Amino acid sequence: MLTDPAFTIPPVPTGGPAVGIRWLRRHVARFANGADHDRRRLQVTSVLAEADLAGLRRLAAEHTRAVLDDADGRPVDLMTRVARVVPIDVLVAALGLPSVRAGAVAVVAKAYQPGSGPEKPADEAVRELVEAFGGSTDESVAAKIALLVQACDATAGLVGNAALAMLRNTNRPVETVVAETLQQNPPVRMTRRLAADTGTVVAVDLAASGLPFGAGPHQCPGRDHAIAITTGILESVQGCRLAEDNNDYEPSAALRVPAKLAVVR
Ligand code: HEM
Repeated sequence: MLTDPAFTIPPVPTGGPAVGIRWLRRHVARFANGADHDRRRLQVTSVLAEADLAGLRRLAAEHTRAVLDDADGRPVDLMTRVARVVPIDVLVAALGLPSVRAGAVAVVAKAYQPGSGPEKPADEAVRELVEAFGGSTDESVAAKIALLVQACDATAGLVGNAALAMLRNTNRPVETVVAETLQQNPPVRMTRRLAADTGTVVAVDLAASGLPFGAGPHQCPGRDHAIAITTGILESVQGCRLAEDNNDYEPSAALRVPAKLAVVR
């Protein structure tokens, strides 16, 4: 379904404020098909090409180490202090983007998929991000905002799932833990496509297909970046222990993201 042109991205809702979550969805590669998709995808891949992967990994390790240093032996919730913040901060730094509030990116991410979360706070957060990017509402600004939004929950989930696996079963190389997590406990479980013949929206099970980054024209362009960031974070979490073993996940059918991950160094 992901590579068959008879299955496309379902249409997104019309309306909403001039600048808001619906505006964002209507201007990004993720929710576009055909020529619009090709053009917008090129904007994202050219921005992502600016990042040096080894630099991203190093930066992610440094930011994580600073959070753990700051905790000075007290428990740290890795989800709120690291997994939801560090990927955004290091992408912004490595890609030379204007500084943004990671919290605003998270609010947009919650409502990015139509029907997934409240639109009003997301509208406000989109306006904040557009302002941070200089106020223009062209596709290139939407592409940069969307890149951070796409990275947000998916990378938080990968960091959380991989950190849990590493801390429950220590002494394995971080690269192995990340690769195994992507196959055994991937953060993005499913996506949707519109079947041209029946006009119905169908769910595509990414976890069961062993395609953690999808496939076809919409395949994740941030794969190598996400792996570099997650590996860097894990390097700095090595040597910590779980303060409590928690099995709660954020409520979501499409994502598997630990709700909390308390660790102590
Ligand atoms: C640096 C972090 C990341 C960035 C910048 C990023 C960026 C993106 C972008 C821009 C798209 C839309 C591409 C398009 O429609 O042409 C996308 C799609 C996707 N991403 Fe990522 N992503 C990141 C992390 C992740 C992670 C960690 C996962 C899961 C392991 C993931 C899984 C996916 C999947 C499955 C899709 C395709 C959805 C579909 O075909 O319906 N991404 N990503």
